[in-house]
Amino acid sequence: MPIWESIIDRLQEAYPTTLSIKSLADQLSQPAETIQEIVNNLVDQGFPITQNESIVSLDFPLLSSKQIKKYAPDNPFSKGITVFDSISSTNTYVKEHLSAIKDKSVFLAHEQTQGKGRLGRAWSSPTGKSLSMTIVLKPDNELKDASLLTQLLAAAVVKTLKKTMDVQIKWPNDIVINKKKVAGILTEAEFSGSHLEGIIIGMGVNTNLLNEDFPKELIEKASSLREITHSPFDPNPFLAEFFEHFHTLYQEYLETNNPESFLPICRTYSTLIGREMWAIESNTKRKIFIETIDQNGGLVVRDSETGEKNTLTSTHLSIRADESYL
Ligand code: BTN
Repeated sequence: MPIWESIIDRLQEAYPTTLSIKSLADQLSQPAETIQEIVNNLVDQGFPITQNESIVSLDFPLLSSKQIKKYAPDNPFSKGITVFDSISSTNTYVKEHLSAIKDKSVFLAHEQTQGKGRLGRAWSSPTGKSLSMTIVLKPDNELKDASLLTQLLAAAVVKTLKKTMDVQIKWPNDIVINKKKVAGILTEAEFSGSHLEGIIIGMGVNTNLLNEDFPKELIEKASSLREITHSPFDPNPFLAEFFEHFHTLYQEYLETNNPESFLPICRTYSTLIGREMWAIESNTKRKIFIETIDQNGGLVVRDSETGEKNTLTSTHLSIRADESYL
């Protein structure tokens, strides 16, 4: 593990209290000058670290693979975690190295410089304020449809947050609280020929962004877990619990190949079912009434004008309310 990561681990363990450069140096068996230099670099990179003389502390909790393992020691997803300080995109990294990556590996980043969203959009992940994660799945049996894993992951997020927050899913890939998006999912399947080489599931969660960190055009439709709970959000117990739910739902799905173990959660917590919305696809817009999510994860809708019923897949589609996100 690189020294910068051990420093973040120790500061996270100590959070919200401070540590001296000397105690970090002793704990990590390194010269104090080395620790000071690395802390300075982290501050320059934009890490939320406050330094007062040689006393250091985190401004809010940061990802720490050590803590995730402590909270979920036996979970297979917490065993293969790699953390990047900064990377273009965890999904892109995984795509480029997929053949060498094992099933159930997890890649986390404190910052992404070219985060990708659905429909070719950009996804912003400023240092320490947003959780960027990619999970790699290489199932032995070919799954019916990789896009269903977006729904499975969304269901696991709901199970993790629903005890404390009024969480909903905006099909196909948004996690929403109080009508604002707090997380998004981007699932990509990689094939070599007709063989499925791996499924790359990325999730970005707005953990510790403040309202002023969002660009003006997003403020009406996006929020963060920190803004919603009015306190700094610790991503580590969140991820540990998420891994437990994700593992259980995924194992069940692999064993039964039946998505009805998680689709009912997506239907119950859907923010779209039972509503009239706009379906927008390549500059055409039509009003639809949303009936349900079918067995394949498609959105079953009725055209409000013609009454015609059909099933929408997520490929090039956005769903919007009148003049707003939800
Ligand atoms: C969306 O809402 O459009 C999907 C956003 C997905 C963002 C995550 S962050 C981790 C992973 N790496 C990326 O570049 N994108 C996904």
